[in-house]
Amino acid sequence: MEVVIKRDYDQMSKAAAQLVVDVLNTKPNAVLGMATGSTPLGLYQELVRLHQAGQVDFSRVTTFNLDEYVGLPANHPQSYHYFMDEHFFRHVNIPRHNINIPSGTTSNYPAFCQWYEGRIAECGGIDLQILGIGSDGHIAFNEPGSSLSSRTRLKTLSKQTIDDNARFFERREDVPVYAITMGVGTILDARKLVLVASGKTKAKAIAQAVEGPVTSMVTASALQLHRDATVIVDADAAAGLTMRDYYEFIYAAKPAAPKS
Ligand code: F6R
Repeated sequence: MEVVIKRDYDQMSKAAAQLVVDVLNTKPNAVLGMATGSTPLGLYQELVRLHQAGQVDFSRVTTFNLDEYVGLPANHPQSYHYFMDEHFFRHVNIPRHNINIPSGTTSNYPAFCQWYEGRIAECGGIDLQILGIGSDGHIAFNEPGSSLSSRTRLKTLSKQTIDDNARFFERREDVPVYAITMGVGTILDARKLVLVASGKTKAKAIAQAVEGPVTSMVTASALQLHRDATVIVDADAAAGLTMRDYYEFIYAAKPAAPKS
């Protein structure tokens, strides 16, 4: 796992956006895995900026989102469909039929989850998966205790996640209790993983995920099992890492990526 420590949120977002651009430079028809939440907002803003400046083209890209709340229709302002459209899709040129987001309103969740997994496979698998991390160490909505080989399924949100996400809803009771989410196994199948984290509230989860044991109690620790995972954090989110100097040393010594 590569750990990249940036001084602030802006630098973290730009470094993550650059990794996405690097993949698109070598594979213009790449399949991207998308995350929602506050953390990747800066990354999406940067990709939109680069697109508007003519530096990145998404016309051949396919996307798969990690998760969606159960019960929220696509036009609900707190749905992840709405979030993605608002913050990314409507600003770039990904063909609509190439955008895949789990349905929060299907009448048959098991069948939908199986279809979603099949659709990812049909598209050749995910080239780069963007991830955030929950304060309980989750990736997507794989809450503590999720199997590290889990696939897309319905998942009950933890109390911690409901508390964390209550900030987006009028009342805590409005936060959906269930979500449909890619599994940890689904995520580990992606060819490249990029996890972004910012702020003090993520410091403990990042320390556990990067330097703790691999455990289903911190599903982000499964990144340790992946052969190409990059964790990009700002200084606050890096505060609990004991090997911080070593990560910075490795990063500083890394040769610059060749420009294509
Ligand atoms: C959202 C997702 C979640 C978030 C995590 C952090 O698609 O997969 O795992 O990445 O809950 O959310 P923020 O960035 O809002 O702290």
